[in-house]
Amino acid sequence: MPDVVSNRLAGRTAVITGGGSGIGLASARRLAAEGALVVVADNDPAAGKAAAEEVGGLFVPADVTNEEDVRNLYDLTRRTYGRVDIAFNNAGISPPEDASILTTGLEAWRRVQDVNLTSVYYCCKYALPHMLEAGKGSIINTASFVAVMGAATSQISYSASKGGVLAMSRELGVEFARRGVRVNALCPGPVNTPCSGTSLPRIRTAPPAGWCIFRWGALRNPRKSPLRSLSWPATIPPS
Ligand SMILES: NC(=O)c1ccc[n+]([C@@H]2O[C@H](COP(=O)([O-])OP(=O)(O)OC[C@H]3O[C@@H](n4cnc5c(N)ncnc54)[C@H](O)[C@@H]3O)[C@@H](O)[C@H]2O)c1
Repeated sequence: MPDVVSNRLAGRTAVITGGGSGIGLASARRLAAEGALVVVADNDPAAGKAAAEEVGGLFVPADVTNEEDVRNLYDLTRRTYGRVDIAFNNAGISPPEDASILTTGLEAWRRVQDVNLTSVYYCCKYALPHMLEAGKGSIINTASFVAVMGAATSQISYSASKGGVLAMSRELGVEFARRGVRVNALCPGPVNTPCSGTSLPRIRTAPPAGWCIFRWGALRNPRKSPLRSLSWPATIPPS
C-alpha cells in the first residue's frame, strides 16, 4: 500500500485498464497515493494481481477487446465500491507486425484496432452510465503523440487507432460535459515501457541530457522537435 501523499481522491474509485504495467502501473501507484480506491484491469493476471496487491486495490481480470469483460469491469466496480468516479482507459499494444501499410496485414491491423480503439469505445460505453447516474465522473483515454504528429517510422494501425481515440474523446467530451462527465485524452510522448520496447529496440537507457527521441528511433536535437525526451512512466507529470 503506497504512502498517501494527499487525500484529494479519498473515497473515489479509479478503474485503470492495462494497470499491470508501464503507464497504467505508475498511474495506479499515483492514484492510490492520492487516496483513490484503485481497480486494476489487465489480461495479464500475474501483473494485474501484483499491481492491485501493491496498491491495496482490486484486480479484475479483463480482456478489453471483450465487450462482456468490459461491462463486467465497470459493473463489478460499482457493486464493490458503490461508484465509478475515474475511468483510465489505457490498455494498448504496439506489436512489431504493425509497420508500413505496404507490409502490415489485415490481421495485425485489426488486432491493433481492437485493443487500442474498440476497447476504448467499450470502456467509455460501459463507464458512462455509472457516471451519468451520479452526475459526475472523469474519463481519461490514452492516445499518443502519433495521433497529432504521425510517425516517422510507420506503425500504421497504431497511429490510426490513436487518432481514433483522440477524435472519439473530443466528441464524447463535448457531448457529456453538460451532464457533469469530463472526457479527456492523453497524448504521451515516448515512454520507456514494455509496449514501446518492441518499437525502441535500440533504446535501453535514458538518452543524453538535452536530446530527444523522435518517433521510435532517431535521436534529434530537441530544438528541432517539440518532444523533449524519452520519459519513464513515473516521470510523466500528474495533471
Ligand atoms: N510507451 C510509450 O511510449 C507510449 C507512448 C504513447 C502512448 N502509449 C500508450 O500508453 C498505453 C499504455 O502503454 P504502456 O507503454 O504503459 O504499455 P505496457 O505494455 O507497459 O502496458 C500495457 C498494459 O496493457 C495490458 N493489455 C494489453 N492488451 C490488453 C487487453 N487486450 N486487455 C487488457 N489488458 C491488456 C498489458 O498486459 C499491459 O499490462 C497504451 O495505450 C499505449 O499505446 C504508450
